[in-house]
Amino acid sequence: MTLDMQKLEPLLGMMVTEIGAAANAALVLVGDKLGLYKALAAHGPLSSDDLAKRTNTAPRYVREWLSAQAASGFVTYDAATNIFSMSPEQAAVLADDDSVVNMTGGFYALAAVYADEPRLTEAFKIGKGIGWGEHCNCLFCGTERFFRPGYKGHLVAEWLPALDGVVAKLENGAKVADIGCGHGASTLIMAQAFPKSHFTGFDFHEPSVVRAREVGAGHKNLAFEQARAQDFPGGDFDLVTIFDALHDMGDPVGAARRVRECLKDDGTFMVVEPMAGDSLQENLNPVGRVYYAFSTNVCVPASLNQEVGAALGAQAGETKLTQVLREGGFTRIRRAVSAPFNMVLEARP
Ligand SMILES: C[S@@+](CC[C@H](N)C(=O)[O-])C[C@H]1O[C@@H](n2cnc3c(N)ncnc32)[C@H](O)[C@@H]1O
Repeated sequence: MTLDMQKLEPLLGMMVTEIGAAANAALVLVGDKLGLYKALAAHGPLSSDDLAKRTNTAPRYVREWLSAQAASGFVTYDAATNIFSMSPEQAAVLADDDSVVNMTGGFYALAAVYADEPRLTEAFKIGKGIGWGEHCNCLFCGTERFFRPGYKGHLVAEWLPALDGVVAKLENGAKVADIGCGHGASTLIMAQAFPKSHFTGFDFHEPSVVRAREVGAGHKNLAFEQARAQDFPGGDFDLVTIFDALHDMGDPVGAARRVRECLKDDGTFMVVEPMAGDSLQENLNPVGRVYYAFSTNVCVPASLNQEVGAALGAQAGETKLTQVLREGGFTRIRRAVSAPFNMVLEARP
C-alpha cells in the first residue's frame, strides 16, 4: 500500500505536537509543585540558575525544565541574555492560583487518568464501570482546581443572575443544596457571596466530603454531608444545583426526580454541564476533544459503576439533558446561559 505523503506529513506533525504536549504535562505538575512558575512570575526575568536558587532546586534540572517550558510557549526566553520570564498571560494561566483562567488543575486530572489507564483498558474488555472513588487521588483535587477558576469567574457574576428571580431569593435568605459537590468549590463560592442563605453540599464520595468540610470550615451558612443524588436528605429547597456531575451519575433521571421532590414548587434546579452540541459532529473541536477524553477515562466509567448506568457522557448535549430533566418531573427547562466550557440549564417544576 502506498501512503499519501500529503496526508501523512500533517498527521505525523500533529503527533509530534501531541507527544510534546503529553510529555510536558508532567512538567507542568513539577513546576506547580515546586513553585517554579510562581517564582518566575514574581521575580523574573531570571536566569535558570537564579530560578533554581530562589526555589531551592537543582540547577541542571531547572535549566532543562525551562528549555521545555520555552519550547512549549509556557515561559518566554530571551536568547540575547539567556534569561527567562513569564508574560502576564502566561502567569495568569500557570502561576496565579486566584486567576479565573488558571489551567493547572487540568494537568492534575491528567496525571490521574494516566495512573488509572491499566484499569480502564481492562474495563473496556468487560464493560464494567470504574467508581469515581476508585481513581487516583489527584483526580479529585485536579477536578476542583480545574473547575474552580471558571466558577469564580462566572457563577456569581453571570450564571446565577441568568436564572429567573434566584439572586433576589439568595440575597434575602434561601435554602440551597449543591449535589455532587466534590470538594465544594461551587458551594463555598455561593456561600461567601450570599451570607443570608444556607448552603448544603452533598456528595456520595466520602473523602471529597471530608475535604469540602476542611475548605469550608468557619463558614456558618455552609455544611457538607455524604449522600447520593438519588436520595439525599432534606426538603423545601429554594435552589438545587448540580455542577458538572449529572452526567457522572448512574441514574441522572432518579437524581432529577429526587431534586424535584425536595424543591419548593417555586424553586429552581440549576444544572451546569459541559458545553456540547447535540451531535458528535458539532463536538469535533478542541473543547469537545478534552471532554470526550475525560468522559471516556472518567465520566462514562463512573456512571456505569452505579445503579442504572445511564452513561450520558460529558458531551450529552442540551436535548438529551432536557429529556432527563423532563423525565425527572420538570416542565419548564431552558438554557439560561453558556460559557466556553459550560452550559447552564434552568429547570423549574
Ligand atoms: C466531575 S466531579 C464534579 C465535582 C464538583 N461538582 C465540581 O464541580 O467541582 C463529579 C462529582 O459527582 C459525584 N457523584 C457522582 N455520582 C454521584 C451520585 N450518584 N450521588 C452523589 N454524588 C455523585 C462525584 O463523587 C464527584 O464528586
